[in-house]
This record gives sequence, C-alpha cells and structure tokens, in this order.
Amino acid sequence: MSDRCPYDLCDGSGLRYDAATNTSYDCRCRPQVVARRRARSLSAVIPRRYRDVSFDRPPVTEIEPRIVAEVRRFVARIDDHLDDGHGLWFLGPTGTGKTTLAMLVSKAAYDAGRSVAIYSLPRLLNEIRDMHRAERSHIELLDRLTRVDLLHIDDVGAERTTDWVLEELYSIVNARYEDRRSIVITTNILDRDALCEQITERTVSRLTEMCDELPLIGPDHRLERHIA
Ligand SMILES: Nc1ncnc2c1ncn2[C@@H]1O[C@H](COP(=O)(O)OP(=O)(O)OP(=O)(O)O)[C@@H](O)[C@H]1O
Ligand SMILES: [Mg+2]
Ligand SMILES: [Zn+2]
Repeated sequence: MSDRCPYDLCDGSGLRYDAATNTSYDCRCRPQVVARRRARSLSAVIPRRYRDVSFDRPPVTEIEPRIVAEVRRFVARIDDHLDDGHGLWFLGPTGTGKTTLAMLVSKAAYDAGRSVAIYSLPRLLNEIRDMHRAERSHIELLDRLTRVDLLHIDDVGAERTTDWVLEELYSIVNARYEDRRSIVITTNILDRDALCEQITERTVSRLTEMCDELPLIGPDHRLERHIA
C-alpha cells in the first residue's frame, strides 16, 4: 500500500516541479492522488483482519481454486475492470471466504493507486442516516461514494432498513451504474427474491448487470477452526 507515483514521475504528491521555470504542475497521477485522499477520509483502509490477505497464503489457498482463479484473473486486469465499471459479486453461506476474496480485490485496486471505499452495508446505511442530518456533509458523502474508483460493500442484505435509506442506496448504485464505476459486493442471501425484498429489485437488477457472480460453498470455516 505505497503512495508512490504509479508512473514514477513525481514524489507521490501528485505534483511535479519544473526547476527551469520554478513552477509546479499536475502529475498524471494527480487525479488518483486526489481520489485517494478523498477515499481515505472515508474508510479506504483494509480492516486489520484482512490486511495481509494474499493469494499465496491461507485461507485463500484453501478456498475453491476455480473461484480463486477468477479473482486472480480479475485482479490481474484491475485497471481495465475498474475503467469499464466491472465488479464482482461474492455469494455464499457464512464463513466461506467471501469477504476475504473481496478484500483481495480492494487491496489490488488500492495498490494500483485507485481510490477504494470499503463498507459493510449496515455501516454504510448508518452513515447515510447520520449524515442526513447535516445536509452538506450528506451530499459530500454521496458524492464521494459515487466517485470512488471501487466501492466495496460487504454483507449486502444483512439488515432490513427503512425505505428512504434504501432509496439512498439505490441512488448510489444507480449513479455508479450510469458512470460505469465498479462495485464489489458480498452477500449470504442466496435467494434473489429475498435479496430484492431486502434492498429493492431496482438495486439488485443493476448490481446483477455490473457484477460477475462468484458462488462460494462449503462449511463455516470460522466454526471449523473453533472446533479444531
Ligand atoms: N475455504 C476456507 N478455508 C479455510 N478457512 C477459511 C476459508 N474461507 C474462509 N476461511 C476463514 O474463515 C473466516 C471467515 O472468512 P470470511 O470473513 O472471508 O467469510 P465470509 O464468507 O465473508 O463470511 P460472512 O458471510 O459471515 O461474512 C476467516 O477467518 C477466514 O480466514
Ligand atoms: Mg463477510
Ligand atoms: Zn505522479
């Protein structure tokens, strides 16, 4: 997670200096630097539990190889996918590695110098709810959630919420859909109708188009570890 200039042109600040004319000017990476700062003030940082996730280490080496291969392929072309607004949708029962794999994607995006925001859906909805009281910061939050290169929403469908909060969620997803900006989501709601019931059909419909579905199956590995 370095803040190096991805083009090796500046010192990572997004600004270059021309000694001859004693002026500074924007580096090619400047938009990314700005986006990254914006995202940092959200929650771009990978949660501690997932900070060291890697393809070379458990638990990723223990997850269904075909699914991991898909993630690896996605990550190998992360810039193209983010530019095209492609995302991934991890679904499966609890404790099967969905968040782990989604974090790999977020980490790859972050390492590529792209801006990333990671939220569990319940937390995101809470934040929207709280922000609503302060009109301006509310608009700023929505704006940032719309513009960040990758929006990672964990635990979609974990909680039923009020209609107007769902409307806000819809407007974020829809804005990203229209702008072709990537979303990565995880959910353990396997039944589409149930998910529509939770987060509205219009939101699910857009997510379906934006994301490739990667199903994870198997036992709850948290429980397994506990028993072992
Ligand atoms: N296939 C696996 N083999 C071994 N351990 C695994 C496997 N998948 C996940 N784990 C471990 O199980 C725990 C849960 O993983 P993770 O948080 O990615 O699950 P999840 O699918 O997101 O669960 P939930 O739906 O409850 O959010 C972690 O400690 C992870 O390291
Ligand atoms: Mg999870
Ligand atoms: Zn630069």
